[in-house]
Amino acid sequence: MKPLNIGLIGYGFMGRTHSNGYKRANDFFPELQQRPVLKAVCGRNAEKVQAFADQWQYESIETDWKALIARKDIDVIDICTPNNSHAEIAIAAAEAGKMILCEKPLALNPEQGERMCEAVEKAGVPNMVWYNYRRVPAITMAKQLIDEGRLGKIYHYRSNFLQDWTISEDLPQGGAALWRLDAAAAGSGVTGDLLAHCIDAALWLNGSIKDVTAMTETFVKERMHSETGKVEPVSIDDACSFMCHFQNGSLGLFESTRYARGHKALFTLEINGHDASLRWDLHDLHRLEIFDNNDEGRLRGWRSVHVSDHSGDQPYMDKWWVPGLQIGYEHTFVHQVADFIAALDKGETAHPNFRDALETQQVCDAVLSSAKEGLWKNV
Ligand SMILES: NC(=O)c1ccc[n+]([C@@H]2O[C@H](COP(=O)([O-])OP(=O)(O)OC[C@H]3O[C@@H](n4cnc5c(N)ncnc54)[C@H](O)[C@@H]3O)[C@@H](O)[C@H]2O)c1
Repeated sequence: MKPLNIGLIGYGFMGRTHSNGYKRANDFFPELQQRPVLKAVCGRNAEKVQAFADQWQYESIETDWKALIARKDIDVIDICTPNNSHAEIAIAAAEAGKMILCEKPLALNPEQGERMCEAVEKAGVPNMVWYNYRRVPAITMAKQLIDEGRLGKIYHYRSNFLQDWTISEDLPQGGAALWRLDAAAAGSGVTGDLLAHCIDAALWLNGSIKDVTAMTETFVKERMHSETGKVEPVSIDDACSFMCHFQNGSLGLFESTRYARGHKALFTLEINGHDASLRWDLHDLHRLEIFDNNDEGRLRGWRSVHVSDHSGDQPYMDKWWVPGLQIGYEHTFVHQVADFIAALDKGETAHPNFRDALETQQVCDAVLSSAKEGLWKNV
């Protein structure tokens, strides 16, 4: 078993999900030929990063990501920092010959994303972006059913990602976790944070998007900035809706907001074809709802398939418990680690890689510029 030495940068929400993925992957995917080793974690505050290292059993710490990248004993740089640091870290890591796992969105904009793609391609280093929802077994199965042609010609794709955590005007912008409200750190609001997941899934399931028309709104115009202590204008999009044409001729409708009272993380998607439709909802993530018009007439109706039965070849579930028992959000990261290592073992490319994630970035960019100019935009 070859060690795969991980250098993690950022130890917040995603730092924890990824660490869990590294620790669990080989336990449940015993065929993997490389085992992640939690070699070093990097953060700016030595005391806090040491506490994280102790809790999660990282062997060492760094307080400067450049020092981490310079280390000879690190194979993989995992970027779990706010969006405005992804490009600089990824390009430096590529130049140092490291494999790179980068959180989404890939970058602040397509220009940065293109430079990141060029850097990893020039260095020839394996790379992947953590659009983890592709590894929800029900979504993976949706992809299989679509690729098998069971839906027929696709007419509609719709997807939402709804939250409600920024409704309070008292919430500051900037700083831990709240960097999402600061456009300088996040690049955009719900478009890059939430719609990016909807778009990645849509591109994977339904192919490329041709053009978009969008509207955005910033409901709270000014917020205290936690770094300057001053009330400053808010320039992220609090809500975004867009329509689009896919290359395959189908129509798309997307909505995201952090102002949908009562919704915490309602990621949904639905796809309607000539022969069948599929529907999925993150709050019930094992369920894939299927309507198949080819079913016998008397029994035709929406089926709710609990994607947990590996005796029926449902994806990933043979790795876990007995049919009918659930897995959760954290397992999507275990699957992503396992798929990355499996691709390394076979000398293949794991997806979504930086190039795949650049396409999502280009759609986000077209959405934001359409909303700004009030025009249809080509992707
Ligand atoms: N795949 C997903 O579902 C998903 C979910 C949440 C966040 N994300 C993405 O993950 C990334 C991180 O988000 P998060 O929720 O973990 O944020 P977070 O605020 O919880 O954690 C960010 C971490 O980065 C550290 N950091 C910031 N600047 C740094 C620097 N210069 N050097 C070293 N460390 C630095 C912070 O100290 C903190 O530990 C973002 O790009 C976000 O969009 C993805």
